[in-house]
Amino acid sequence: MIKCIDCGAEYGLRDIIYTCRECGSVLEVLCSPHVSKDIFECRKSTMWKYKEFMPVDESRIVTLEEGGTPFCKCKKLGDELGVKLHVKVEGSNPTGSFKDRGMSVGITKALELGVDTVGCASTGNTSASLAAYAARAGLKCIVLLPAGKVALGKLAQAMFHGAEVISIKGNFDEALEAVTALALEGKLYLLNSVNPFRLEGQKSIGFEIVDDLGWRSPDRIILPVGNAGNISAIWKGVTEFYEAGFIQDLPRMTGIQAEGAAPITRAVRKGLDDIVPVENPETVATAIRIGAPVSAKKALRAIYDSDGLAETVTDDEILSAQKLLARKEGIGVEPASAASIAGLKKLVEMGEIDKGEEIVCVVTGHLLKDPNTAINACKEPIEVDANLESLSRVLNHL
Ligand code: F0G
Repeated sequence: MIKCIDCGAEYGLRDIIYTCRECGSVLEVLCSPHVSKDIFECRKSTMWKYKEFMPVDESRIVTLEEGGTPFCKCKKLGDELGVKLHVKVEGSNPTGSFKDRGMSVGITKALELGVDTVGCASTGNTSASLAAYAARAGLKCIVLLPAGKVALGKLAQAMFHGAEVISIKGNFDEALEAVTALALEGKLYLLNSVNPFRLEGQKSIGFEIVDDLGWRSPDRIILPVGNAGNISAIWKGVTEFYEAGFIQDLPRMTGIQAEGAAPITRAVRKGLDDIVPVENPETVATAIRIGAPVSAKKALRAIYDSDGLAETVTDDEILSAQKLLARKEGIGVEPASAASIAGLKKLVEMGEIDKGEEIVCVVTGHLLKDPNTAINACKEPIEVDANLESLSRVLNHL
């Protein structure tokens, strides 16, 4: 069943619906199978390991074997900050971001519903993922991108997988409004995270964190927040495992936003249940350059219900954290993903995070998604002749 998170109105799993027809709020899919966690043993490590928790027809699953991503212990960085740190590396998904989890479920649902065209607005990763999964399923794909604000790797992916790429003169929020209008006219099946089936896939990050820790919850999960789907999804995942009796505690959900695009953090500071949209959001982390997140209400509930936090970080803090993670731990992530590390550092310094806490930072997309930002942060390589003498001269000066 699909249910409105505000008024409780109920809809069928085959309804094509994005927001509540009664009150306009966001929807969620209810899913509570009665299973023992023993059934997960010996299954392949993809997100479909937890298929009983995925509300789609098992016989039609469209998958590129997403999920089962690395869960890296980061001892050096953790020791420096005085916490037990694990990093969930979502850049290792098939198209290089966590969106693949949501798209696997979303595209499977699209096939079940018999639609022929799917679409989304995107800051980049959603479009890259949708283009790939639509190609695999043989569906037409239309993506709307904010002109000039999508990182190169993501744009290349969306175009190369054969999506119809439309550049919108406006920001992500405006592109989302436009594509939603198309969806409501029946021109395409909308696969932004306002579609509750997307979050059903992404909740598997929460399942995996618990499973990776040996069926325990960490003290805290920290992640970047843009459209606010992922924080809502991960909270849904850990809550479902808690309600199934698989874990005894729940993590504190901690969302990090860029200073120039922080409606959720502002709402949390004031204790509000909904956001005031930010006009003209701006940040180097283009993936989270969003002023009016559609899943804001769900995200705020996740933060309040888990006794969590929301914080902002500056672009400089994001870029320093990106470099720190790459150079200290060998994990290459795009700027938005590094917001989780920058946020951890800031919250430790502020004394909001206790020494010794067990933390999982979710890093959401691969370094190569945004090669320009990476290259701009480095010195040009030195060019020399290919002989020992020239090389020795250069090495002596390092
Ligand atoms: N990190 C990355 C790398 C992202 O691409 C996104 C969102 C987020 C974090 C934030 O996740 O929106 O669920 O709060 N990217 C979307 C896109 C908006 O279009 O690719 P969220």
